[in-house]
Amino acid sequence: MGDIFTIRAEALPPGWRLVALPEIDSTNEEIRRRENETPGEGLVVSAVVQVAGRGRRGREWSSPAGNLYYSVRLAQAERLGDSAQMSFVAALALCDALAEVAPHLAPRLKWPNDVLIAGGKVSGILLETSGPWLILGMGINIVSAPVISGGGYPATSLRAEGADLSSGDVLPVILRHLKSCVDLWRGQGFTVIRRLWLDRAQGIGAAITARLQSGDEISGTFRDIDSDGALLVDVEGHGIRRIMAGDVFFPASGASPHRPG
Ligand code: BTN
Repeated sequence: MGDIFTIRAEALPPGWRLVALPEIDSTNEEIRRRENETPGEGLVVSAVVQVAGRGRRGREWSSPAGNLYYSVRLAQAERLGDSAQMSFVAALALCDALAEVAPHLAPRLKWPNDVLIAGGKVSGILLETSGPWLILGMGINIVSAPVISGGGYPATSLRAEGADLSSGDVLPVILRHLKSCVDLWRGQGFTVIRRLWLDRAQGIGAAITARLQSGDEISGTFRDIDSDGALLVDVEGHGIRRIMAGDVFFPASGASPHRPG
């Protein structure tokens, strides 16, 4: 069991560099500030604590000590618009890394990029851009999970699910998987990533509710994701609805957007 300060350079993908910090506002912000540092691609910043951790859609990401918070700088995709696919690449890498370090956890993927363990959200991914770079920020609940209220998705941690691991155990494995998934995506495109993502997806064929940015909700059956990564929901009487952004819930598992907070 090691913390992030014990990770050796040899444990990282070749050419990548880890800057491990005790405390920072947000690791995504710190990568942005280090724009002139090398390497360009493969700079990784992690922190024991974040005091202004950010989640998707402007939410806060609670970041106490014990969990894993880090960001990775990668080159943007060559084709405009393809960079958004990186969130599926990263989620796939994270899911496979967690399955490697703790196979009994049987992690699954929730659209677009959350990893679920026993139905609870164990991680989050925030994708941002900075000039020619993508900043991929990931948070993993290693020892604790926030108490979710007000219609958020139920959360869990590796410890709560019976995996006694530390950030230092997990981060090098994730970065190794991330490097190979990025190479796969760059070499073979999104088709193969989409297939692998679907193989690990939670709830295909099950009831799903997507809460859109507008607050509107769409409920139906989760059918697929398309070649852009959009969620395809079969809505009774209305056919397939294509959803580009939103939060999804699986009502049958008790994860509903309407649970009292
Ligand atoms: C989500 O809302 O699911 C995404 C959460 C992403 C959190 C990570 S923690 C490391 C990085 N720094 C941040 O401020 N956010 C991301």
